[in-house]
Amino acid sequence: MTDIATTRPIEADHRAAGRRRGTSGLRRLRNVLCLDDFEAPARRFLPRPIFGYVSGGVETNSARDGNRAAFAEWQFLPRVLVNTRARHQRTTVMGRTYDLPFGFPPMGSTSLAAYRGDSVLAEVAAELNTIMIQSGASLTPMERVRAIGPTAWFQAYLPGEREIIVPLVERAQRAGFDTLVLTVDVQVIANRENNVRSGYGSPLRPTPRLVWDCAVRPRWSFGVFARTVLRHGMPHLENIGFPRMPVMGFSERPGMARDGLSWEHLELMRRMWKGKLVLKGVLSPRDVRIARESGVDGILVSNHGGRQLDYAVSPLRMLPAAVAEAGDMTVMLDGGIRRGTDVLKALALGAKFVFIGRPFLYAAAIAGPAGVRHGASLLKDEISRDMAMLGIDSLDQMNRELLVPARP
Ligand SMILES: Cc1cc2nc3c(=O)[nH]c(=O)nc-3n(C[C@H](O)[C@H](O)[C@H](O)COP(=O)(O)O)c2cc1C
Repeated sequence: MTDIATTRPIEADHRAAGRRRGTSGLRRLRNVLCLDDFEAPARRFLPRPIFGYVSGGVETNSARDGNRAAFAEWQFLPRVLVNTRARHQRTTVMGRTYDLPFGFPPMGSTSLAAYRGDSVLAEVAAELNTIMIQSGASLTPMERVRAIGPTAWFQAYLPGEREIIVPLVERAQRAGFDTLVLTVDVQVIANRENNVRSGYGSPLRPTPRLVWDCAVRPRWSFGVFARTVLRHGMPHLENIGFPRMPVMGFSERPGMARDGLSWEHLELMRRMWKGKLVLKGVLSPRDVRIARESGVDGILVSNHGGRQLDYAVSPLRMLPAAVAEAGDMTVMLDGGIRRGTDVLKALALGAKFVFIGRPFLYAAAIAGPAGVRHGASLLKDEISRDMAMLGIDSLDQMNRELLVPARP
């Protein structure tokens, strides 16, 4: 079991560990001035296979890098002499108001990279009144995360099999989640050569090379892995719909083909699920239209951070067309967002909310809740400054008139 075994508050747990090390983790944050700055200390903290798993994309990394590049295709046309002293970042997503326009997307194995990572992200998200989505490939039972983070959503990975769909949807309902996210862009396991090269696997094989990779990262080995195993037992995939599987060992991962998942299964889920239903990993406007006709409440325009189909178009590029087809559905976006300016560009093109993955996982890994809070505060400050310089005091004033296409 992972952190379901303890009820100790995440914050106290991390502070106690910090005192033992003679640091609250804050020293590591001194040079972190923007979200990209989390990457270098995370590379020094995480064993090579785990850093590679988090940072990598798929095949040539074109989709991952294209996500970043797409933000440079837009520039701002600011307005001046507007009193923006009362500016705020509140935004309403599917009927609920949050204090920030950004949150944390689902990331599998978060609690392998960061001590009690799922709980850390869920707890800080609730404290900041923003959204955290727990991954279906996570190592913490969903009931625990939902109890810690009342603003958490649950993301399901499902095959096209009714016998697996029904119990998992019922379990998420019983756990108290009000929003269920179905990820639809993992029809098959992606060709992540980088994982093979760096020795990452699911499960991780305890080879001499892995032992060496961990030995040269003692802060992670003791502070995350040994601490997790000693206190909570070997982490397992807890929410995937097949028997619990340990994160490290020699067992074969049970195959789970998702290439049979189709709109029919979505209709079944829609009938069963009483709360809000979100599709994650939609890029084509035609799929947006079918989602709307199927009674979906929200879509997350995403190419999985460039980790699934290489050369999949960047979500930002497809955003205006997705918004045009969305009707009453709420449109959200992720992929490559690192700056306040990126958040504001996505909002100007019609997104209601955005998610930021890798930097917040690095933040949780190197400094726990303090790291995540630090990252959120940097981004919030960037957005606030940018809003003043754009001449807006509310995010719903962010529109196309404030953007100009960048010309080469
Ligand atoms: C380490 C890692 C694990 C991920 N695991 C999942 C997952 O379990 N489910 C899912 O829907 N998306 C998963 N994603 C994709 C993210 O939800 C999100 O789409 C992506 O990270 C956004 O891009 P960004 O990292 O550039 O912000 C994962 C991403 C990363 C980096």
